[in-house]
Amino acid sequence: MQDVKWWHDKVAYQIYPASFRDVNGDGFGDLKGITERLDYIRELGVDLIWVSPVYRSPMADKGYDISDYYGIDPRFGSMEDMEELIEEAGKREMKLLMDLVINHSSDEHEWFRKALLEVKQGKEGRYAGYYIFRDGRDGGPPSNWRSIFGGSAWERVDGTNRYYLHTFLKKQPDLNWDDEALREEIYCMVNWWLDKGLGGFRLDAIAYMKKPEVFMDGPADGDDGMCNVYQVCQNLPGIENIFEELKWRTFRLHDCFTVAEANGVASERLTEFMGEDGHFSTIFDFNYIELDIGENGWHDKKPVTAARVRRALFASQKEAGEIGFLSNVLENHDQNRVQSRFFPREDQGFECGSMLAVLQLFLRGIPFIYQGQEIGMTNDCRSRIEEFDDVATIDQYQRALAAGVPQKLAMETANFRSRDNARTPMQWDDTANAGFTDGMPWLPVNPNYITVNVKTEEADAGSLLHFYRRAIALRKSEQYREIFVYGAFEPVMFSNDNIIAYKRVWNGREVLVCVNFGGKRETIQDGAFSGTILLNNYDEAVQGQKEFLLKPYQAVVMEISEGTE
Ligand code: NOJ
Repeated sequence: MQDVKWWHDKVAYQIYPASFRDVNGDGFGDLKGITERLDYIRELGVDLIWVSPVYRSPMADKGYDISDYYGIDPRFGSMEDMEELIEEAGKREMKLLMDLVINHSSDEHEWFRKALLEVKQGKEGRYAGYYIFRDGRDGGPPSNWRSIFGGSAWERVDGTNRYYLHTFLKKQPDLNWDDEALREEIYCMVNWWLDKGLGGFRLDAIAYMKKPEVFMDGPADGDDGMCNVYQVCQNLPGIENIFEELKWRTFRLHDCFTVAEANGVASERLTEFMGEDGHFSTIFDFNYIELDIGENGWHDKKPVTAARVRRALFASQKEAGEIGFLSNVLENHDQNRVQSRFFPREDQGFECGSMLAVLQLFLRGIPFIYQGQEIGMTNDCRSRIEEFDDVATIDQYQRALAAGVPQKLAMETANFRSRDNARTPMQWDDTANAGFTDGMPWLPVNPNYITVNVKTEEADAGSLLHFYRRAIALRKSEQYREIFVYGAFEPVMFSNDNIIAYKRVWNGREVLVCVNFGGKRETIQDGAFSGTILLNNYDEAVQGQKEFLLKPYQAVVMEISEGTE
């Protein structure tokens, strides 16, 4: 077994600050708003809070474009507000994780401004070295790479034949991790933040931090003749040296927790990434979060079946096995709402939401709950593309039209997949703007706030919110904590296709987690478990004489009595 670490038994909660709680009435969430609601988060049972970026930013990608790593954007408040938040979280035995966006900065960062000046003067100066500039080729960009948000990944510097690389928006130039001076700047900044008492970081887009020696065209994967940057620039050899140095120069000095957004890590490299001596404490498991998206992008919608979820989830858990702890997520600020993503509208609600909670919360690993998931927030709907804020939605919509997708379908897809679905304001109560702000919210509130909101659910002991609290309390209880944190994950297979079941096994004790992922009743006849029910999202019992009966979306957690299999 791994050495015990302080974060092994934590349950995390992600806050998207622009949409969490606005205290000063400008329609934009702020740090004071988070501090105000810390008791709510604590009561959920959470002890790690990941706050999406609040650094100074022009907000081209909602804060994932940082223009000053040492400053708080005034929209979110001040450095004093940040320090107060860290302190108040600490008083409640919660630790704060900031988002560390160091694959790229904003083009408005002073480093980049200086770099541009140097390039325009034809100099190979210090700041030009912080970014990735290359000569254009045949009057065009250095390679055929398409950025993640669409269009070429290269932008020409006015009046020159030099181009800079941007994996994401052109307002997000990539930093050059081969440059020692740049690395020193970043280490200094990371340590500065850690000295303030942070619990650690969520690391953004780390798969792209190593760039190739030579920028060559990749195989075209679209009618535009371009090749998506992730095909050619993900987890390149040598990236491990970047991560190791970063770890030893910063994270390890503070024994902090790190969770990486590490796309495309091959299973044989998992140990390197999140093992005992891995680059990071853990990485997000994205294996099942986007099962509805086909190879051709958002408009290529694939049905999410229990069998596909089971396969993906079991594969991840098996691979991670004794290596370490994955971070398990169903929602984040880059996804639509999970109930809407996986289930038809008429099925969404308490049963569906609580079944997903059970599925996620008892896996081996660190659960990350996204704001509003615990009250069952669902997708919103807009009628015109102009109503979207999210850059990815606008790009995907245009690409769908260019690929000949009819406008109505492209709009439907945009509505369904948009990251804005996760970014609508948190629904606190049934008053105007869902109690998020007294002003005009930067993104409209989902009209279902009248019924789906914290206040209503607080008052109802049978609500999803109370179910989340009970489920987390079970996970953390004295009696079951070790099983759920350290117990081995064992898949359980029944012949009912809609059932997803697994066991957690620890020191001769076994807990069965069994969910009906479908909207029909299921009778399980090939498994005669019996034991003590620890959690059930229906009042009805599930055990017959020789069978297990599960109602639509029923989910149970049961300690198996010895010798009952
Ligand atoms: C991943 C973040 O989660 C996403 O919101 C952002 O747009 C990109 N990285 C670029 O930073």
